[in-house]
Amino acid sequence: METDFDPIEMEMLQLATAARLLRTAQRIACLTGAGISAESGIATFRDTQTGLWANFDPMQLASQAGFSADPGVVWRWYMDRLQRVQQAQPNPGHRALADLEARVHRFTLITQNVDDLHERAGSRSVLHLHGRIDRFHCNRCGFDHALTMQERSAPRPPQCLACGDSVRPSVVWFGESLPGRILDHAWRAAERCDVMLVVGTSGVVYPAAQLPLLARQLGAHLIEVNPERTALSDMADAYLQGPAGVVLPDLLEAI
Ligand code: APR
Repeated sequence: METDFDPIEMEMLQLATAARLLRTAQRIACLTGAGISAESGIATFRDTQTGLWANFDPMQLASQAGFSADPGVVWRWYMDRLQRVQQAQPNPGHRALADLEARVHRFTLITQNVDDLHERAGSRSVLHLHGRIDRFHCNRCGFDHALTMQERSAPRPPQCLACGDSVRPSVVWFGESLPGRILDHAWRAAERCDVMLVVGTSGVVYPAAQLPLLARQLGAHLIEVNPERTALSDMADAYLQGPAGVVLPDLLEAI
């Protein structure tokens, strides 16, 4: 006999399972991607580029080759994105994760995002695997650079005060290695957690995408929050289909 499949009931069951897993967890690791900032108006990576940047490939712009080929275009792309980040506000999804961190003794937040919305929502310690768009350093000598107002609207990147080479945003470009100390910390959190919460990532970029798989291999429970299914969805103990800004507050409520 066909069992009636009630999607609402299924959703409630997934939420109850996720809440129970988080309630009983000793150590929680959380990996976020661009999707958690989508409801703050920041386009995700796999969203099509719009407006000024419609004809540019982010994979090209966010690369050493792209920066060397045309530092001006890359600089203006980052200044445009930085302005959008600074005009954006954290959404209820960011705030729910900050609440969760406050309630759980051992909670590690790992993000692929280069914005500071987790911090502005109240998250106290955030591991930025791919760097920060509001920090800058010299492309050659690595000297840190504090951006001035006029440098933000300049058509080309500023020059390093120490060696004269071009200044760049402190984000990890395609083909570059992730910051070792931060990656080690994220790796350890994935190895030790008993629940990994994965929010708003397509899970296609490594090594970040390896973290949930590693946690799962070592026996952790997986909870995924995403409006679209990903390669993780079928292996998750609970797949909560929906936008983070709606699902995460409901999840906190259910815990
Ligand atoms: N809530 C939750 N998830 C959402 C929402 C939302 N409101 N809107 C979209 N998503 C999901 C999409 O379904 C997609 O699975 O967010 C994910 C965004 O995927 P990507 O654009 O690939 O972003 P991300 O996974 O963070 O990319 C990883 O790739 O391009 C590099 O360095 C860049 O950090 C980035 C990395």
